[in-house]
Amino acid sequence: MSEERAAEIFRALIMRRESRRALAARPVECEKLRAMLEAARWAPSYGNMQPWRFVLVQEPAALDAMRPAFTPGNAWAKQAPVLVVGTANPQDAKIVAGKEYYLFDLGLAVQNLLLQAVACGLVAHPMGGWDEQTVKQALGVPDEVRVVVVIALGYPGRLEELDEETRRKEQQPRTRKALAEIAFADRWGRPWDAGA
Ligand SMILES: Cc1cc2nc3c(=O)[nH]c(=O)nc-3n(C[C@H](O)[C@H](O)[C@H](O)COP(=O)(O)O)c2cc1C
Repeated sequence: MSEERAAEIFRALIMRRESRRALAARPVECEKLRAMLEAARWAPSYGNMQPWRFVLVQEPAALDAMRPAFTPGNAWAKQAPVLVVGTANPQDAKIVAGKEYYLFDLGLAVQNLLLQAVACGLVAHPMGGWDEQTVKQALGVPDEVRVVVVIALGYPGRLEELDEETRRKEQQPRTRKALAEIAFADRWGRPWDAGA
């Protein structure tokens, strides 16, 4: 494959990833879950410490135990056939100049996982809106381990099955800050210009 073609495919994958809320009940194949976890496993981490640990929640009893954890705004996630819970022990990662790299490392692994999910035709929606103690109790996560993200995973579902408010959110256009706002040339605040 040419470099141009590979870049094009990668860009399409990035653009296809969306935090969608409509999820089908259809189960996710084990092979796809494995591909996602493999993608996460090969993420970089500070000192190759690999502080990430994931709990895949699929059994009805475990899903039931997780559901009370969600904030009202994330009630849609209760329909997900799989929840991927991203955790890390802060002591398993580097702390450099006060920066706790466990969050960064886990974030890199999660992004790999999300992109692999998209490549597998799945929706993977990361969330921070849930109660950590409830999640910990539901899954038996040790005290010293932090639960950082819960990812609602499944095949794309039908928009009509969402409540009105959630459907409205789902239909809002996705936006991003302009490149000039986030990328600087040689000096903080001087917008980087591709044409310069
Ligand atoms: C750490 C993190 C926490 C998030 N928490 C929630 C959440 O609790 N509920 C939700 O609906 N979306 C949540 N999101 C999704 C973001 O709202 C979404 O990524 C952002 O609006 C950009 O949209 P996009 O992912 O479709 O590009 C979260 C995303 C991240 C990375």
